[in-house]
Amino acid sequence: MKIQLIETALDTCFEGLSARELPAGVSLYTGKVRDVAAAKDRIVLVASDRISAFDRVLSTIPFKGEVLSRLSAWWFDQTADIVPNHLLSDTELGIDPLALSGRCVVAKKCDMLPVEVVVRGYLTGSAWRDYQAGRSVSGIQLPRGLNFCEKFPVPLITPSTKAAAGHDQPVSSAEIVSSGLVQAELWQQVEKTALALFRRGQEVAAERGLILVDTKYEFGLSDGRLTLADEIHTSDSSRYWYADSYQERFATGVQQRELDKETFRRWLLDQGFSGDGQPPVIPDEIRLQTAVRYIEAYEAISGQEFIPVQSDAQAIKQACADIIKQCLPV
Ligand SMILES: Nc1ncnc2c1ncn2[C@@H]1O[C@H](COP(=O)(O)OP(=O)(O)OP(=O)(O)O)[C@@H](O)[C@H]1O
Ligand SMILES: [Mg+2]
Repeated sequence: MKIQLIETALDTCFEGLSARELPAGVSLYTGKVRDVAAAKDRIVLVASDRISAFDRVLSTIPFKGEVLSRLSAWWFDQTADIVPNHLLSDTELGIDPLALSGRCVVAKKCDMLPVEVVVRGYLTGSAWRDYQAGRSVSGIQLPRGLNFCEKFPVPLITPSTKAAAGHDQPVSSAEIVSSGLVQAELWQQVEKTALALFRRGQEVAAERGLILVDTKYEFGLSDGRLTLADEIHTSDSSRYWYADSYQERFATGVQQRELDKETFRRWLLDQGFSGDGQPPVIPDEIRLQTAVRYIEAYEAISGQEFIPVQSDAQAIKQACADIIKQCLPV
């Protein structure tokens, strides 16, 4: 995609929906990144261009919402044989919401399990920080002598509870079951499914010269059936590395080359910001570079060129409002 197009879009990012744009009877939940319109048994997930880091919304990134919606839709398609997911098909809806808006998906409203199912293939990120500090990783005691970015013999599940506000808290699988957050048999099924999804993700990524390092799934129940909800394998929920430089960097103990929003996080850290206090103002140059990274990620993973459906916030709002009106039962 042309840099010039991204530059122009810096001023027309889509910041999200507001309740007054919605018909009566539709509720609106504003997450950090997405807005969720709901009525009865359906939801419309609307991906804004907001970007969060360290659990704070800090800026907007051109096309981010569209890039991630498309990437997630692509991955749902790649994994549909493993577990039913929450998406309602275009046939069921009579329209293709993604093609119309670039960033709306219509899904079944699920009874969400109150845990984020994090799967890790490598020792990095917060798990590495915990390990270095001698702490267990979500209740898992790792062996001594592991190195930065080392591959685990088998991927680990390191869940966290979904906190209503603030940071999510790590929780062990045993605690999830003993505290009754998720019933034992269902949790077993969740773990098995998460590992199968992660395996598929790693296989597909490997074909693209990428490593799916870690990710987070959210599951729910729909008509009593375990259902994959939320988003899957996007740059917001996952970490990807370039495979070709993995070994050399691992051997010398340096940071891996990352595909996703790590550019943005690293810039923040360089400014001395790691979540507390007043965040720095994000310069357009960084927003632009971040947009390029997101678009590259989409193209590398899906093998498809990114051609945005919409780039003007006003037009996007209108398209989302129309879809909500058409697809939600009120
Ligand atoms: N099928 C579904 N049924 C019900 N709720 C869903 C479904 N899919 C996703 N959700 C919920 O919709 C919300 C999406 O919002 P979003 O991810 O932007 O915000 P957040 O989870 O509050 O913050 P963040 O992901 O940035 O930590 C989440 O709370 C997610 O659990
Ligand atoms: Mg979320």
